[in-house]
Amino acid sequence: MPGGPDAISTFTFPNRIRFGAGAIGELPPELERLGVHRPLVVTDAGLVASGLLGATLARIPAITVFDGVHPNPTERDVADAMAVYREAGCDGIVGFGGGSPIDAAKAVRLLATHPGRLADYDVTTGGSDRIRPDLPPMIAVPTTAGTGSEVGRGALIQLPQTGRKTAVLSPFLLPSVAICDPELTLGLPPALTAGTGMDALTHCVESFLSTSYHPICDGISLEGLRLIARGLESSVSDGSDRAARASMMMGALLGGISFHKGLGVIHSLSHALGSEGRGHHGTLNAILLPHALRFNLGAARERMGLLAAQMGLGRNGDGPGHLITLTEILLARLPLPRRLGDVEGIDRDRIGIYARLAMEDHCHRNNPRPCDEESLAALLEDAW
Ligand SMILES: [Fe+2]
Repeated sequence: MPGGPDAISTFTFPNRIRFGAGAIGELPPELERLGVHRPLVVTDAGLVASGLLGATLARIPAITVFDGVHPNPTERDVADAMAVYREAGCDGIVGFGGGSPIDAAKAVRLLATHPGRLADYDVTTGGSDRIRPDLPPMIAVPTTAGTGSEVGRGALIQLPQTGRKTAVLSPFLLPSVAICDPELTLGLPPALTAGTGMDALTHCVESFLSTSYHPICDGISLEGLRLIARGLESSVSDGSDRAARASMMMGALLGGISFHKGLGVIHSLSHALGSEGRGHHGTLNAILLPHALRFNLGAARERMGLLAAQMGLGRNGDGPGHLITLTEILLARLPLPRRLGDVEGIDRDRIGIYARLAMEDHCHRNNPRPCDEESLAALLEDAW
């Protein structure tokens, strides 16, 4: 709805953000400030082994660590973390990692004070209205530049009751504080840097193209895209490039804020494809991006031209087409698979099921071109 609101809009804005090299050192005083004395750190085993948290943990006396979060986290992960939270008498949560630990941490935070199961809070069945503000404090510390979950209101968890990645979404789920330290991403390998970076880029693109009215987010998505276009390839080719890493972490942060406006068909499809815990979320988005832009071209021509201009292209009146070509070239230059058929664990014979699950996902509701199962199946065929 680029021209103006057709209804009363609601703008909720993010949280306290501590950003910069070495910001992780601010974790103990930020916990103190929130009155958290017995925090639970929700993370994964790989991150504990990496030693990234070690020095900081040593400065927090009564800390408990749960390192059992899996990629594409499940209800089981959340229940296991919840049991540790209760047993240790915790009074606050730190989500430390990529999108999976931070989302799992948000889900633990929700269940700490809300009865029932996560499925009761599914955004597609009105669950957001059942989420109250009485949640324990939470600090999110991203170790990738991609997800934006540190400034997002939602968490995605695989639930057996819905058979899909299910979103719980509420402004109350925004982490109390985000600590964004680009130094934490210096050791991220090239493929993961590329996959997470393309997730961030997709957030900026999809939110800018989404149909809801949110000029604040529109401006933020354009600046996020500019920073990501500047930092992505450099951070992939030289992981120790501190300026590129800082660009990417801020770009991902802005991408995360921008999708308060909404996302689109790419995220519905990648959620569906990842519903069995397969495929890296950002990598699936990267593969789908040029196909989805082609799908949306007729409905979002003007805005796609603006995005192309933001990436330094499309000043000759052919911006929308340039944006598609640019994303194809970018994908070809990154160490990522280029077709869905190259992604392990997803199955072309299940395209009909993925299309149905994508229609059940909330993200496509703001997509510029309306979606149905048939058109989504065709889009997946295109990208396979
Ligand atoms: Fe995403």
